[in-house]
Amino acid sequence: MPQLSVKDLVVAYGNVQAVKGVSFDVEEGEFVSLLGPSGCGKTTTLRCIAGLESSSAGSISIGKDIVAADGMDVPPEKRGINMVFQSYAVWPHMSVFENVAYGLRTRREPSATIQTKVDEALAVVGLSTFAARFGTELSGGQQQRVALARAIVTSPRLLLFDEPLSNLDAGLRDRMRFELVDLQRRLGTTSLYVTHDQSEAMLMSDRIILMKDGEMVQSGTPRDLYDRPASRFAAEFVGNANILDGEIVRSSGDSAMVRLPGGIELEGMFTWQDHRQVTGPVAACIRAEAISPGSGPNAMIAEVKTVSFLGPTVSCILQVGHATMRAELPARQPPTVGEKITVHVAPEAVGLITR
Ligand SMILES: Nc1ncnc2c1ncn2[C@@H]1O[C@H](COP(=O)(O)OP(=O)(O)OP(=O)(O)O)[C@@H](O)[C@H]1O
Ligand SMILES: [Mg+2]
Repeated sequence: MPQLSVKDLVVAYGNVQAVKGVSFDVEEGEFVSLLGPSGCGKTTTLRCIAGLESSSAGSISIGKDIVAADGMDVPPEKRGINMVFQSYAVWPHMSVFENVAYGLRTRREPSATIQTKVDEALAVVGLSTFAARFGTELSGGQQQRVALARAIVTSPRLLLFDEPLSNLDAGLRDRMRFELVDLQRRLGTTSLYVTHDQSEAMLMSDRIILMKDGEMVQSGTPRDLYDRPASRFAAEFVGNANILDGEIVRSSGDSAMVRLPGGIELEGMFTWQDHRQVTGPVAACIRAEAISPGSGPNAMIAEVKTVSFLGPTVSCILQVGHATMRAELPARQPPTVGEKITVHVAPEAVGLITR
């Protein structure tokens, strides 16, 4: 039985449907991300699960309990969940200890139990020596950890996160991503994480649910979404692929020859069976790292437009016929700007998408 089950969820603000019939499950102990561009309904979905927003239709179950259905809404504090927001909402006038103890005090737990549980939660987030400090005496990253400790101290059956790291600087955000995943693994708390940052979702999640315009467009492991995007939108949003518009010249089964503007022909593979087509327009999706120097299958002559040094690789903009594409080439023998080079890409790495 899934720990969270959302079925046909619809949320409307007046005439605007922010969520248009979304269904998904999260299994016990799983870390799942809701990913999508700004305004696609991620926060609204999360707030509905938390009980901070009412649904117009559909149902939500947490564990064995139906918490929202047919106009019935269980209040947030009775759902056995906790939420961590982008703004840490650490109370400045309370000590770190009291910030974390708050949820236990409202439950009237005995003070010895509170002491033990808060000590444990602070140890988990690495703030044991900060218990007496006030909220105002902490850095952003430390405040975020207090918010985390406060969320885990009551042992919720579900943790909800809404872009909790986006206020941190890049370095700290990177560290906190790993810390958060590590913490979630150790505690095994079922987690639903909202982000519009695809690399964050890829790095942290067991599974990603991709949303667009209030609808769920694809769900799968980070690998699934990267390797087999089900739409042009998914290919662009996850991993920022080169998308080249072309026409199918001929096709056989999963494979097809595609003509790009400027006359270049490439062999590619349909990413999904239901994308197979014999003729018509097609988008060829090529990851920057799938393009290799030298000749081979799908060889192309490319003019090098820009070269940026990234360390182990160089990121290049290549002009191929009328198309431009981004390629990551080895940095050992980097091409120079203006040079004409031969590159190739394996047919399996040219994903053909017809929707
Ligand atoms: N209280 C509200 N009243 C009216 N419309 C709202 C309200 N809250 C959100 N919306 C609308 O609902 C849609 C979904 O908003 P939501 O906050 O869920 O997006 P999001 O995916 O979390 O975006 P972001 O990445 O920018 O946080 C948007 O079009 C938004 O304008
Ligand atoms: Mg949001």
